[in-house]
Amino acid sequence: MAGSAPSLNEIQEAGQRFQPLWSARGMVASQEGRASEAGAAILRRGGNAVDAAVATAFALAVTLPQAGNLGGGGFLVLWLPGASPAAGRGCLGNAGSGGLGDGSWPAAAAAGASAPLHAAHVTHASKGEAPAGAPSAAPAPFRIGASPELTLGQGFAVAVNFRESAPAAARADLFRRADGRVDRQRATRSLESTAVPGSVAGLLLAQRCYGRLPLQAVMAPAIGLAEQGVPVDRELADSLTAALPLLAVDPTSRALFLRPVGQGGRPSKGLAASPGARTGANTEGMGTVARSPQAAPGSIAASQHPKGWAPQSAGGARSTAQLAPAATPSAPGAASPALRALHPGEILRQPLLASTLRRVARDGEAGFYRGPVADALVRLMRQRGGLIRQADLSAYRAELVRPIAGRFRGHVVLSMPPPGGGLTLLQLLGLIEPFDLQTSGAGSAATLHRLTEAMNLAYRDRNTWLGDPASMASPPPDLLAPAYLDQLRRSIDPARHRPAASLSVPPPPRRESVNTTHLSVADSSGGLAALTTTLNFAYGNGVSVPGAGFLLNNEMDDFTAAPGQPNGFGLLQGEANAIIPGRRPLSSMAPTLVFRPDHTPWLATGSPGGSRIITTVAQVLLQRMLWGANLATAVAAPRMHSQLWPDRLALEEGFSPDTRALLGRLGHSLQNAPAMGAANSVEVLAPQGSGSLGVADPRRGRTLAVGE
Ligand code: DON
Repeated sequence: MAGSAPSLNEIQEAGQRFQPLWSARGMVASQEGRASEAGAAILRRGGNAVDAAVATAFALAVTLPQAGNLGGGGFLVLWLPGASPAAGRGCLGNAGSGGLGDGSWPAAAAAGASAPLHAAHVTHASKGEAPAGAPSAAPAPFRIGASPELTLGQGFAVAVNFRESAPAAARADLFRRADGRVDRQRATRSLESTAVPGSVAGLLLAQRCYGRLPLQAVMAPAIGLAEQGVPVDRELADSLTAALPLLAVDPTSRALFLRPVGQGGRPSKGLAASPGARTGANTEGMGTVARSPQAAPGSIAASQHPKGWAPQSAGGARSTAQLAPAATPSAPGAASPALRALHPGEILRQPLLASTLRRVARDGEAGFYRGPVADALVRLMRQRGGLIRQADLSAYRAELVRPIAGRFRGHVVLSMPPPGGGLTLLQLLGLIEPFDLQTSGAGSAATLHRLTEAMNLAYRDRNTWLGDPASMASPPPDLLAPAYLDQLRRSIDPARHRPAASLSVPPPPRRESVNTTHLSVADSSGGLAALTTTLNFAYGNGVSVPGAGFLLNNEMDDFTAAPGQPNGFGLLQGEANAIIPGRRPLSSMAPTLVFRPDHTPWLATGSPGGSRIITTVAQVLLQRMLWGANLATAVAAPRMHSQLWPDRLALEEGFSPDTRALLGRLGHSLQNAPAMGAANSVEVLAPQGSGSLGVADPRRGRTLAVGE
């Protein structure tokens, strides 16, 4: 052959198949493009990572109705350079800032193992006691008055807990029927399934204590999107069609997201708003749609929804009473037309949501937790058997908490402490750390086997010990103690899967369900924000607040409705997560930040996916830290998941038949899983000032990373 093949450099081929987006300044990666744009616009206006994260989250409440929300809750973990402004803004009480070397960072962490654990808490603090029957005593339980902030590198980190809480009227046996079985319908589709929403309080607390811009500026993009409307794209149309039976039974959701068959039409050109389409205002609250006579496939008559979808009150009473006449197109009891979801290209306008957002921008928390929005929510609850009352709304507080911190291969990892999923994430990383997974390689049967066994142990402990630390009689044991992790790790057989039954108790069927949403932001000064928020299932319980334009969560299903019976994610949880008034349900959400060994900020990640969140985040980190994947490849790499019960190893597409066969021989029961998670992630390049990278997870169609 004449001449030699050009070197890689000459033809400039990339080393990896996936490439992140680069920005000279900051970056926003979220599950929906307009929301990412909203956050990036806030960065361009001089906002920091917190301003941008809050702007993106409010925008997602408009553009991603199945998961973005005002009626749900979530967690935020952030790091900002320099000194914290929070004390000067009255956010910390008397508490100062604590470093990695203080009481909340046991020596074990500094020695290299993943570590500590109990969130310092500004508003809740309880004395820790030695755990009974636990693997080892917790080294640093809650410290009264301790700061939620943690000094790290040239800045500080803090987390915001805005998880929903159980209303005062909730009881441990809320969802149990007379025969002791859990009533899945009431646990997930009734108004009793709604916990007190935390999103507005959390986003406002974060912005007030750590943002740089005025709240009005930060919320302006979301208000604009709700008011002017967004063109429905194919993924949203498909999602609404899938949720049609759920949304159709609620008059307010119906008016917001569905249309009578025969009203409106399919624009002929792509997903963008069709320029030629005629648009016009429908009944107020229904938005504005392009009109054509075509009917849609997948439609349903509202009066003919499948049995089992109708919301029921505790007493079995049902009401479709419309509380805010403006939000519904038809009087209760009127003949229901056949319904269809919005089509691609139609405009989803949400004027009622816009006015709720405007009220929040003007009045702060009071605009949501008191006044007309709160009144409408409580009226809905009273009329349809829900438990939330004004006192619950007035008592709700988002909290600043200390991120849970550990180390993995020299990197500092910060995540969300219980009720968030960060403790289980760190336990999993701690179990895995000494394994030579670099040699066994990503995706090999040997690696997947070890990961599975470690995941099962971590989920057993999660389900046995964890709940909301603010309402536990005694703190959980130190599940991250190095000696305990060593003991667990030694119990892993490299040649054989250990059946779930030999690790813990009862069996279970399992059901898939989605939606939560994660966004990550990097600003040009290295500030990082990882924010995960959820309604629990897609569209929560499907019920929207009349006159206020937002959907309600069904987060009460994340509590243990009855020990030994699975929740919507197949999790078999324990008494530590039983329903108690004021308690927040245990969550898998684990917004996570990673720092380089020199403590400079590195990456922000997190994911939706219910019980698969923790394992998704762990695999993004392993890909990036162990197997040399760049951020884009790390996010795109095929994922696996195991959670003890059901005793199955779930594999996405992308693992070889050989690997599957080997795993089968090790005793694993394999399950072909749909795509797991959506780990929209960002990375800050070193040295500081070289810009940032962003990756939108390719598993969802609307994700987008946008540079500042
Ligand atoms: O907090 C939790 O763990 C669940 N409510 C999260 C639900 C979820 O991620 C659904 N999305 N894909």
